[in-house]
This record gives sequence, C-alpha cells and structure tokens, in this order.
Amino acid sequence: MAIASAETQVCLIMVGLPARGKSLIAGKVKRYLGWISVKAEIFNVGKYRRKENAQPDASFFEPHNTQGEKARRAAAEAAVTDLLKWFKADTNNTVAILDATNSTRDRRKWVHERITAAGIDAIFVESKCDDEKLIMSNILEVKTTSPDYKGQDPEAAARDFRKRIANYEKVYETIDESERSYAYVKLINVGHQVIINLIQDYLSSRLVYYLINLHIKPRHIWLSRHGESEYNLQGKIGGDANLSSRGELYAQALPGIVRRSGVPQDTQLVIWTSTLKRTIQTARYLQAETKWDQLEWKALDEIESGVCDGMTYGEIEKTYPEDFAARDQDKYNYRYRGGESYRDVVIRLEPIIMELERSDNIIIVTHQAIIRCIYAYFMDSSSDKSPWMEVPLHTLMKLTPKAYGTKEERFKADIPAVSTWRGKGSAAKHHDSISDPNGPPTIIVGSPEN
Ligand SMILES: *[C@@H]1O[C@H](CO)[C@@H](O)[C@H](O)[C@H]1NC(C)=O
Ligand SMILES: *[C@@H]1O[C@H](CO)[C@@H](O)[C@H](O)[C@H]1NC(C)=O
Ligand SMILES: *[C@@H]1O[C@H](CO)[C@@H](O)[C@H](O)[C@H]1NC(C)=O
Repeated sequence: MAIASAETQVCLIMVGLPARGKSLIAGKVKRYLGWISVKAEIFNVGKYRRKENAQPDASFFEPHNTQGEKARRAAAEAAVTDLLKWFKADTNNTVAILDATNSTRDRRKWVHERITAAGIDAIFVESKCDDEKLIMSNILEVKTTSPDYKGQDPEAAARDFRKRIANYEKVYETIDESERSYAYVKLINVGHQVIINLIQDYLSSRLVYYLINLHIKPRHIWLSRHGESEYNLQGKIGGDANLSSRGELYAQALPGIVRRSGVPQDTQLVIWTSTLKRTIQTARYLQAETKWDQLEWKALDEIESGVCDGMTYGEIEKTYPEDFAARDQDKYNYRYRGGESYRDVVIRLEPIIMELERSDNIIIVTHQAIIRCIYAYFMDSSSDKSPWMEVPLHTLMKLTPKAYGTKEERFKADIPAVSTWRGKGSAAKHHDSISDPNGPPTIIVGSPEN
C-alpha cells in the first residue's frame, strides 16, 4: 500500500518554548518517516539564525531587542523559503518539519499563510510542558550539546539558556480557541495529554498517531536472536525448528546475561517473542526466573521465505538462480516467491514500533531479519544497508534512546554458534563474520555465570 499519494505534502510546524523536546520530537518523526520510506526533512530556524549570530547571549532574544528581532525574523524567512523550495524540487518530498521557537499567534498566522499558499498542508505540533524534571533534563542536554553554547562554561550556559527561555515566555502564546481553523496537535507533557484538531487525510492521521504514542522517559530496549537452532546448524532458512544443544545453553545463560547488561533496579521488563518455537524456547528460562510478563507476537515471526522455506542458500542458488541474484541486487525490495521482502516486513512491524514507543523496558527475542528492521528504526540505518547488517547469534543488544540518537551496547555469550551471515555478492554459503572495528563495543559475558 502506498503511504502517501504523490500529491500530499505536509508541513509540521513545531510550537513551544525552548527545552520542551521540540527538536527531539522533530528528529524522531523524521527517523520514523525514513523507516517507512517517506521523504522528510527538518528545517531548523536556529541553524539559519546561527549563520549570522553564532553564539548570541540571552539579551539577543529579548522581545524589544530590535536588532535581534530583525535577525530572528530573517532566519525564519530563510528557513521557510528553503522549505518551500524543497517541496517544489521533488514531489516525492513529502513531509517537512519546521523546527522554530517563536510561538506567537502572529507568527503562526504568517507561517500558515506562507505554507498553505503553496498548496501544502500545515499542521502545528505544540509541545507544552510544565514538568520541571523534563525541562531540566532538556536544559542539561542543550547546554552540553547545542552549538549555541559550544566551548562555554556549562553552568554559565545553563543560566543564559534559562534567561533565553524567560524571554520567550514573555511573548509565548499557546494555541487557543481563536485558532480552531488550523490543524494542530497539542502534546501536553509528552505522552500525558493530547488535543487534536482538524486532522484529516491518511498521512496526517498516521503522523498524529505516531506523535501521540511518543514518550521521552528514559528506558532501554534489549534485542536478541533466538539461540542457535537445528536449522541454523543445517544452514537452512525458515521453518519452525527446535534449538540446538548450544542454543539451549544460550537460553539457559540468557537470564544472567540480561542481568549483567544492567537492568535498572526494581525494573520489570516485558518479554516479547515471536510465535515460533525457537524464540519461545530461548526466552523460557528468562521468563521462569524473572516471572516477567511474556507476549507472543505473530508480527515478530521471521521473514516469510515462501517457496525457499526449509532450503539452504546453496539449494536456493541452484533452484532459483535469478532470484538469488535479484535478492543480492536489491535485498530490501526483493520478495521471496510466495513470501515477503524486507519492505513487507517493515510494514508488518509498524504496530510493533508504535507499541515500543508507548512502552517502557522491553526485551525482544526474535529473528535475524526482524532484528535488522527494528534496529534500522532505532539507528536510522538506510534500507540498502540494513538488510545486510550482521546480527550474530548468542549476542544480546541493549539499546538506549537518547535525545539525539540511540546508544548501543552488545553482550556476547561465551557459547559458540554457527554464523548465519552472508555478505552481499558472496557465495551461497554462510561464512564467518568480519568484526567491524568501528562497530559497537562488545562485552564478552562468560558462561556459565558466577
Ligand atoms: C519519485 O518516486 C518515484 C517512485 O519511487 C520515482 O519513479 C520518481 O522518479 C521519483 N521522482 C523524482 C522527481 O525523483
Ligand atoms: C515573534 O514573532 C512576533 C510576530 O511575528 C514578533 O513580533 C516577535 O518579536 C517575535 N519574537 C521573538 C522572540 O522572536
Ligand atoms: C522438537 O522438540 C520436541 C520436544 O523435545 C520434540 O517432540 C519434537 O519432535 C522436536 N521437533 C523436531 C522437528 O525435532
């Protein structure tokens, strides 16, 4: 199914004071859209302002500083002009996100007119937040990562940034009744309360559905493939085999590995598996030991390999040589006869991603292709690279979403397994992986534990 008809182009306009997570939300929306193959771009007014005024102090943002006002206005104009150019350049450019701070009724009217006059749908996304903890953690993030404060004393930066927020507070106007003719989403304390007005077409509804599922509380996501299976040993794909004896050892070691990867104190994880035996068997000891809730998802089943189910890569190459070559050509779009492509898998995983965004700490025990797709969402990897990513057996990954990206750690069990990784264009045979010196840090976890 097409996600956006060619003629729909949508502009999300961020509204809210500094340190309310606007850039974080903008970044997540862009990453989500990239994952479902919708072209999106962020236009950050601060970036345009910085071209002329790299590190202004808070006084620059005072409402009556005419010099500052002129410069800020010019930056907003430049950002909107580029945004409209971007839409015009290619009808496939579908969603632009205007990440700006000035949140006055007047300014919204101006932006709305500019955007809609070009035939583009405008949706305001207001992030309203009075949760001191959330604001403080955003301030902390800004003072340590923003180019506005690069190289400055962090304490002075935080003080200045608070003054800047105060200057915006003087003129800030939340979206209200008088603006009922606009389409908007108001997110109050990200994830607590949502107000939605006049959202109509399919793409906009999907964007809003994503936005209302977001929360930005700290949490982790653990990912593991099932332990080595009987099919892995035989080099076969698909099927519903049992674990091998080494796979069974991994299942037994998993509770210890999870513990040693650092589960925050008093934290209950929820275990998600597919409906296939090898993932349920892998989670068995973990569930028994921790008594964590466990859910089986059909959507987490391995990529459906159709007529190739139960074959080795060698057999596939011999029986369906054109398919084997076509898959190497464009692995993301290649669909197994009677089966799925990676693109199909991403579509069926969308509800999983929505659920993950709503959830706290989750451990997912699933399959190679599924992990590649989930990983691509969190790490923003491209569709031509992600299907080739190596996901070793007997290795636990721990992902930690951060304001600007996702941190990854790997914990490798000291239990041997076959490698099921095959490089692009290589022989129809699994071969040993080449470890990537720039890859994530891997910690080898001895086994058995203690
Ligand atoms: C837009 O996308 C379609 C389908 O992927 C492609 O055929 C077309 O060339 C693209 N248009 C432009 C201007 O890139
Ligand atoms: C915000 O926009 C309004 C209207 O365009 C303008 O009068 C005001 O000076 C701007 N304030 C800031 C802080 O940029
Ligand atoms: C998988 O294990 C179960 C229980 O040990 C056994 O009954 C079954 O025959 C096994 N299946 C295969 C395909 O080996």
